[in-house]
Amino acid sequence: MAEQTALEPVDFVVVANRLPVDRKSDADGNSVWRTSPGGLVTALEPVMQEHHGAWVGWHGATDEPLDPFEYSGYQLVPVPLSAQEVEEYYEGFSNGTLWPLYHDVVAKPEYHREWWDSYVEVNQRFAEAAAAVAAHGATVWVQDYQLQLVPQMLRALREDLRIGFFLHIPFPPVELFQQLPWRRQIIEGLLGADLIGFQTAGGAQNFTRIARQRLRLDTHRESITLPSGRTCRAAAYPISIDARGFETLAQSQPIQQRARELRHELGDPEVIFLGVDRLDYTKGIYHRLRAYGELVAEGVVDPAKCAFLQVATPSRERVDEYKRLRDEIDMLVGRINGDFGGIGRPPITYMHMSFPREEMAAMYTAADVCVVTPLRDGMNLVCKEYIACRSNNDGALILSEFAGAAGELRQAYMINPYDVNGMKQGMVLAMNDTVQNKRRRMRALRRQVFTHDIDTWADSFLKDLANVPSNE
Ligand code: ADP
Ligand code: F6P
Repeated sequence: MAEQTALEPVDFVVVANRLPVDRKSDADGNSVWRTSPGGLVTALEPVMQEHHGAWVGWHGATDEPLDPFEYSGYQLVPVPLSAQEVEEYYEGFSNGTLWPLYHDVVAKPEYHREWWDSYVEVNQRFAEAAAAVAAHGATVWVQDYQLQLVPQMLRALREDLRIGFFLHIPFPPVELFQQLPWRRQIIEGLLGADLIGFQTAGGAQNFTRIARQRLRLDTHRESITLPSGRTCRAAAYPISIDARGFETLAQSQPIQQRARELRHELGDPEVIFLGVDRLDYTKGIYHRLRAYGELVAEGVVDPAKCAFLQVATPSRERVDEYKRLRDEIDMLVGRINGDFGGIGRPPITYMHMSFPREEMAAMYTAADVCVVTPLRDGMNLVCKEYIACRSNNDGALILSEFAGAAGELRQAYMINPYDVNGMKQGMVLAMNDTVQNKRRRMRALRRQVFTHDIDTWADSFLKDLANVPSNE
């Protein structure tokens, strides 16, 4: 980690719950920095490397104020959180209330007034930190559901700023959103932005509809007029990845070699299935492994010829739903492997850990079928990473119709994760389809991902934000 620096006002500021690096303790109790989990960091890191400026965010430790420091060509501005705030703002309101509510209530959202109070307080702290580092007239880009009040709070502090907001997760239909006791405050918070980006057109429409119905605001297509006369735009900007970066990495000699080793370590199977996720109940990991287990039990998939590699990054481990999910997956994998495995031949190889980007690229390169089955997902970057790594136009992608990415990746083998038989059929088809069919599909998928990469995403959002009429 590079030197600490004095806080220089900058023209471009990203504000996100997490910094791109996370402060952890190693086995000896020493503090070390690790790459933060999740798609937001994967997507925004290359954007910051191009635009420089400052990234304001929490550094992952509790009760530890840190000075700003330089990292990868831009400034990191750590925002401290107390242990109680982590419990109430992050694990509580962000991940116990908003996360399930915004993901089709696949788990039950909990509503607690003290969680909300903490959310307000922490959002105010982030707004103040952003205001302190932004130069006059700067662009500030606020990210994701943890910080939905920041646009309005920031505007109250600094009228000169151009404020964008991007929601990385789905924005729910009005019928679900209106459960939230603090729905009005959230909408007003977001409307502090000049431009609000969503993953899909459906999310943008849900938001515009709720602004019209709840706040009685005038809306016209993507435009919402506020009582002050200012307009805010709500539109879709499907996020993506550094496709070329992934492809280059995957084509490199060490990664190709590592992919061959992986296949060998898995017992040189004819078909490798791959699942890559944060261990989250929205990802449909249980559903997918259960479907695969049934195929093995029925003898449709022969574990002597096929291997399923599932890697899951530990995530939000103190939240009850996540603890339960971990136990359920452990049990399911244990049962399938116990019932159908041979010596050195478990049907499912399951690893509950994070890997460096290089190892991920080797897994994508080795896998014949990538299985992405969320019950609901804002976008899902794993499927795009897999596609980027398939430079021979081979491999097959199974994709849930409930991932935001399904709108763009129409040539995937599309499945409904709630339909176990449909998912099993999808797996069998993806495994047995002709080489020509797979190539045709993969070529189309690659065209989409390479023409809509992370630069296209950031450029189109920032260009539209720059075109918003100035407040001055
Ligand atoms: P989310 O943002 O909900 O976690 P995404 O699919 O959009 O979901 O992004 C997940 C990101 O995390 C991807 O960049 C993927 O490569 C990375 N990732 C997922 N699992 C692992 C793992 N076990 N080790 C390292 N990175 C992982
Ligand atoms: O958008 C997905 C997301 O929730 C990000 O906001 C977040 O940074 C990432 O997944 C990982 O989750 P967490 O920060 O809670 O570990």
